[in-house]
Amino acid sequence: MAYSKDSVALKGISFQIEDGEFVFITGPSGAGKSSIIHLLTCENFASEGKLIVAGTNLKSLSHRQIAKYRRKIGVVFQDFRLIDGMNVYDNVAFAVRVVGRGGREVKERVNTALEIVGLTHKMYDSPKELSGGEQQRVALARAIVNSPEIIIADEPTGNVDPAMSIEIMKLLSSINKNGITVVVVTHEQRLVKAFKKREIRLREGLIEFDTEEDKHQILQVNEKEETNPDIPPRRRRAQRTHSEEDDV
Ligand SMILES: Nc1ncnc2c1ncn2[C@@H]1O[C@H](COP(=O)(O)OP(=O)(O)OP(=O)(O)O)[C@@H](O)[C@H]1O
Ligand SMILES: [Mg+2]
Repeated sequence: MAYSKDSVALKGISFQIEDGEFVFITGPSGAGKSSIIHLLTCENFASEGKLIVAGTNLKSLSHRQIAKYRRKIGVVFQDFRLIDGMNVYDNVAFAVRVVGRGGREVKERVNTALEIVGLTHKMYDSPKELSGGEQQRVALARAIVNSPEIIIADEPTGNVDPAMSIEIMKLLSSINKNGITVVVVTHEQRLVKAFKKREIRLREGLIEFDTEEDKHQILQVNEKEETNPDIPPRRRRAQRTHSEEDDV
């Protein structure tokens, strides 16, 4: 993926994330982490290669198709992107109404999401009156409120203290236990070590390592041969980014 001729952010990377997985994307500043997020959210598109997420091929999608695809994903932005003129409840409810839901369902969904992130008692507060960790949890409630298949979080702990970082990661982990695929971008190795999940580390637009790469290759070989009944069938809706040698 390139921002311009002189600024190529991702250079021919390929990986696959299974349904229900929890994955950290790590790497130093400028490695291409946010660029991957931008591809996953359709804020940007790969110049070459293939990207399939939740069964959708993210190539030449119309505005309408992008809107439909975005309903399957919940995004947590590093800078929260909350609306100051709305209270916490309305910030989350807005995300529900915008996808065409209404009536009692809005209230039920918002209440459940706020309960999950532990902010029911702050629902009438303005985001400005909240701490960084609380704002991040509102952003998380907004990301989960439409029951997405995938949660994509760019540095969700970037603006909170170490204790709150752990709390947010625990929340993401429990969301993942309910079957939602979680992709977390972070530069905090401390968190990656503590949570012992798959790590895909980027460096200068390439994959430096993927802790699960070997496992996936073995799965692929066995699927092709279809000889080993002990290997479970691959789960549905795998996400895949793939490109050949050239820049993506
Ligand atoms: N809008 C842009 N225009 C041109 N180049 C860009 C743009 N955004 C990012 N880049 C370049 O793409 C590369 C990858 O950037 P990216 O934002 O994906 O890095 P990152 O891993 O998220 O870094 P950080 O940890 O600092 O957020 C960098 O070399 C950067 O300079
Ligand atoms: Mg970034």
